[in-house]
Amino acid sequence: MRAAVDRRLVDLVPGTASGIVAEASAAAVTSPGKRLRAALVFLVAEAAGRDRATLVDVGCVVEIVHAASLVLDDLPCMDDAVLRRGEPTLHRRYGEAVAILAAFSLLATAQSHLAPALAAAGVPPAHREQLSGRLAEVVRTLCRGQAADLALSGRADLEELERIHAEKTGALFELAAELGSIGGGVDTATRAAILAYARNLGLAFQVSDDILDATGSASTLGKDAGRDRDLGRTTFVRVFGLEGATTLRDELLDTAVAALRPLGGRAAYLELLAEHVRTRSA
Ligand code: IPE
Ligand code: IPE
Ligand code: MG
Ligand code: MG
Ligand code: MG
Repeated sequence: MRAAVDRRLVDLVPGTASGIVAEASAAAVTSPGKRLRAALVFLVAEAAGRDRATLVDVGCVVEIVHAASLVLDDLPCMDDAVLRRGEPTLHRRYGEAVAILAAFSLLATAQSHLAPALAAAGVPPAHREQLSGRLAEVVRTLCRGQAADLALSGRADLEELERIHAEKTGALFELAAELGSIGGGVDTATRAAILAYARNLGLAFQVSDDILDATGSASTLGKDAGRDRDLGRTTFVRVFGLEGATTLRDELLDTAVAALRPLGGRAAYLELLAEHVRTRSA
């Protein structure tokens, strides 16, 4: 599925379109990301009894939004990062102006591809419209969370930290799960279970990202390590220590997996994805 996403991203964000912004946009999405959010779309679809092969474009849309958020996050006015996915950050390659414009361009591209992607997946028109609205809402949420993250200084309580990380990272995980489950033969209770899973998985993912920032190296992560500490960021690790953050990650993942109980054996791959977030080193 990753290969299918990688191939399709080249079509959906063509670097051969005219101009430097198109070239930079393509570079930002085709760089070697883990495609974890697309995987979430596909694995939820599978658990919901849908054909994941029809959802490649939907998975790509989520990855395009994610790539745009990384371009912005890396800018000098935010995390001032030099390395992303093993390559110089977009603004280092193309300059700040082009990087900002590429992020704008990518968000518009994602929004415009969603309805056709849902149509191709057999989602009825009323649902398509609702989900397009959800995508716009998630982008606004992500921006709000990112701003709050940058504004945080020093100590924060668990509730505030969780809210900010749920906004900047969790919202897109939830959307991926929502897109994967829609149109499948799942009842309301099953959909709620899947969304609870995704919410906790997204939060756990950000906690594990904070842990890896503190413990990993640029060569294994493919991005700047130790950046949160250098920038004095209020992360889970800073507030709760490495051990506290690890415990929190594991609790969130346990909660995520427990939420899947109503799905029984259908949730096997989603459980494996949660285990991956627990043990990942990159
Ligand atoms: C990094 O996300 C940003 C966070 C929200 C923590 P990923 O670790 O999924 O980045 P890629 O897509 O694999 O580069
Ligand atoms: C980024 O969080 C969250 C976004 C939604 C962009 P981080 O700043 O921790 O992500 P990395 O560590 O740079 O990938
Ligand atoms: Mg950041
Ligand atoms: Mg960052
Ligand atoms: Mg990080």
